[in-house]
Amino acid sequence: AAYDAGEHDSFMHKEMLEQPARAEAVLRGRLDERFGTGHLGGLNLDARELRAIKRVKILGCGSAYYVGQMGASLIEELARVPADAEAASEFRYRNPIVEPDTLYVAVTQSGETIDTLLAVQEVRRKGGFVIGLVNVVGSAIAREVDGGIYLHAGPEVAVASTKALTNMYLAFAMLAIQLGRVRDLSIADGRRLINGLTAIPGQIEQVLAMEDHLATVAQQLGAAESLFFVGRVRGFPVAREGAQKFKEISYRHAEAYQTSELKHGPLALISPEVPTVAIVPDDELVERNVAALHEIAARGGPLVVITHPGVDLGDVPADRIDIPRNERELDPILLTIPLQVLAYHAALSLGHDIDKPRNLAKSVTVE
Ligand code: G6P
Repeated sequence: AAYDAGEHDSFMHKEMLEQPARAEAVLRGRLDERFGTGHLGGLNLDARELRAIKRVKILGCGSAYYVGQMGASLIEELARVPADAEAASEFRYRNPIVEPDTLYVAVTQSGETIDTLLAVQEVRRKGGFVIGLVNVVGSAIAREVDGGIYLHAGPEVAVASTKALTNMYLAFAMLAIQLGRVRDLSIADGRRLINGLTAIPGQIEQVLAMEDHLATVAQQLGAAESLFFVGRVRGFPVAREGAQKFKEISYRHAEAYQTSELKHGPLALISPEVPTVAIVPDDELVERNVAALHEIAARGGPLVVITHPGVDLGDVPADRIDIPRNERELDPILLTIPLQVLAYHAALSLGHDIDKPRNLAKSVTVE
């Protein structure tokens, strides 16, 4: 049968709900529980070559770029290899330094984004080695790279990406574990993270089951003209992706900020008219994050807090969304899921075309 939205009002809704099954598909056959590592066959890099990588540079556009930032922090944390993500659209224009011991990673759902393709070509022209995290099999970027990881998300139609992003993140997690396991990540930590990954599809299902509650919260957010999304360290790319998705389909001004930087500017804008969606996982920064919530509440700023069960928010008035616990390093993926649902329901309550937001294209194939 042709791929259609079936009983769903939009492809975005259908694609969000497919995430547990698609997440299982990207993990299938790629987790080595015995050695606590990833088993990514398509990288075309043996253990010695993986060990020789001194730096990782991730290239992508839009949401893929934000997942790239999540991936970079995973790689630094688990493998202790310096890693960063850059907008592929900027990369080639600054005459980038391409080093032989850097692993370049192009991230793309469609495999056709022109800026990402040209970035890949720039790397290769300068003799760099580049792998792809690509969803569409046989796409332009899939054909151009030296190796890679297919995302197995299935066809994605909605401009606002959901299941492809989730699988990009999971692919980065497996890559980070594999890079870590040829270095100092222990077998015990490797197994702990592999077990964490295995639990993710079921936990995504649990988050999606909170849709009714999220819809109520989303309706309130959609009524605001302007919002902040804040997070720190692992949570900051999550906030960026949350703001991106929200603005793409609700047409509200949504701005992401590091929670720690609020006092250096944006607090001036906080008021009862400007809600903040705060990413507050139960991690090393939880106390500081909760202190920032007090700063926002003191200025009358409405709060939606994405957090873990048991986190004490004190007397801060907030709409609280508790996501399941996993390994701390892997928190970004489950934190991202409610943000998709919030964006979707805000856009729905505003009566927008969810799958085809104005002025945007699913894949941007001209410069
Ligand atoms: C467009 C879409 C974004 C997407 C980006 C990258 O701008 O509107 O949602 O994240 O392209 O697409 P890709 O296919 O390369 O992941």
